[in-house]
Amino acid sequence: METTRTISRRQFLNETTMVGTALGVGPNLLAAETNSAADSFPGGKIRVGEIGCGNVSSAYLTNLTSQPFIEVVSVCDIIIERAKKRAEQFKVSNAYPNIDAMLVGAPFDLLVNTTSMPAHYPVNQKALEAKRHVWSEKPMALEVQEAKELLDLAKRKGVHIWAAPTCVTSPQFKFMAETIASGKIGRVTAGHGAYGHGGPTWSAWFYEKGGGSLYDLGVYNVTTLTGLLGPAKEVVGITTTLNPARNVDDKGEVKVEADENTMLIMHHGNGVLSHVQTGFGYFSGERLAGEGRRLYTIDVTGTKGTMHLQGWDWEPAAVDVACQGEVVLETFCKERGHYNWVGGAKYVAESLLSGKPSLITPEHALHVLEVMNACHESQRTGRRVGVETGFKWPVFG
Ligand SMILES: NC(=O)c1ccc[n+]([C@@H]2O[C@H](COP(=O)([O-])OP(=O)(O)OC[C@H]3O[C@@H](n4cnc5c(N)ncnc54)[C@H](O)[C@@H]3O)[C@@H](O)[C@H]2O)c1
Repeated sequence: METTRTISRRQFLNETTMVGTALGVGPNLLAAETNSAADSFPGGKIRVGEIGCGNVSSAYLTNLTSQPFIEVVSVCDIIIERAKKRAEQFKVSNAYPNIDAMLVGAPFDLLVNTTSMPAHYPVNQKALEAKRHVWSEKPMALEVQEAKELLDLAKRKGVHIWAAPTCVTSPQFKFMAETIASGKIGRVTAGHGAYGHGGPTWSAWFYEKGGGSLYDLGVYNVTTLTGLLGPAKEVVGITTTLNPARNVDDKGEVKVEADENTMLIMHHGNGVLSHVQTGFGYFSGERLAGEGRRLYTIDVTGTKGTMHLQGWDWEPAAVDVACQGEVVLETFCKERGHYNWVGGAKYVAESLLSGKPSLITPEHALHVLEVMNACHESQRTGRRVGVETGFKWPVFG
């Protein structure tokens, strides 16, 4: 049986109020919105079932099992040995071989979906049908229509769905969004994002249909740049493959069918443009962009100043700013606070308990999917592609 600390509702509110204060949210606001939400969850805890026990699940489970207000009740994988291994490693009581068995097994409130990308939609759909809240790894579905169905289904069933990434919850994102809103860098004109590495080596699906560098890596920059500059109105892009085949741990040699190299341009309206470059063919030394490195991965330029994000947007290190009158770059916002790149499920569990609105929204995730699919359509047709969905913007609070 998993050993977890039981906490009272009062303890939860105290602890989340401390988090709220660290995030700059007033304790009164947080407390005022907590009146009924935590009461819906017995013992003041969110019961989690995690499905998909591959590479990323270890980091997720490390994070989830260290939260006093979360109890991980089950894990699941179609390769049952993987689920059993994680159950043993993280002292989780139940391991299941498929979503159907998991849903009729030990009761839980929040499904954490860390399966391969093509499995996200059918798994998310089944969980929502069964009235479970869902935190999904990105993207929540492969088709815009499927993602819209998931949002509608969640509403009909009275539950929530959210999807990774979590970048908009970092202090560095908040700092950049607030700096733009303050007018300090003038009228924003352009943005740039870059994220790539040599490509995953463990699973074939990254290179098969429904995989690719844009859904897996570019998704972070598209989320950050739409979050900072506003919803995209139109997209143009080119994607390429670099290798006819790749060698991966689970299947040996596989044909490459998904994008390995992508350039995507967004028009955010009012003349504001941004650009994302992403790929599975990048020098992996670029991964050294983490803490303490000055490699910039997100740049935002305005008429009166410029901002550069140090480190990856999913693991930011600081923000450098230069403005009219202070033309030397100055470094701000060096602390990550409670932000964690695998902390999205914990973040939404807190939101479920406190009733506090989440900065991560399903509408934003749906928009990001439409932008990415518009890039693929632009590649197929050679045309600029309009984007219809939107989301509440600006994204900070
Ligand atoms: N690996 C990382 O560092 C990383 C980082 C951030 C996000 N992600 C995202 O997390 C997700 C998983 O990535 P990964 O690297 O862990 O992949 P992975 O291939 O290592 O693991 C996926 C697991 O899901 C299981 N699975 C597939 N379909 C299933 C189904 N229908 N039901 C139950 N289990 C199923 C597979 O058997 C496998 O064990 C992806 O969306 C990926 O983009 C991964």
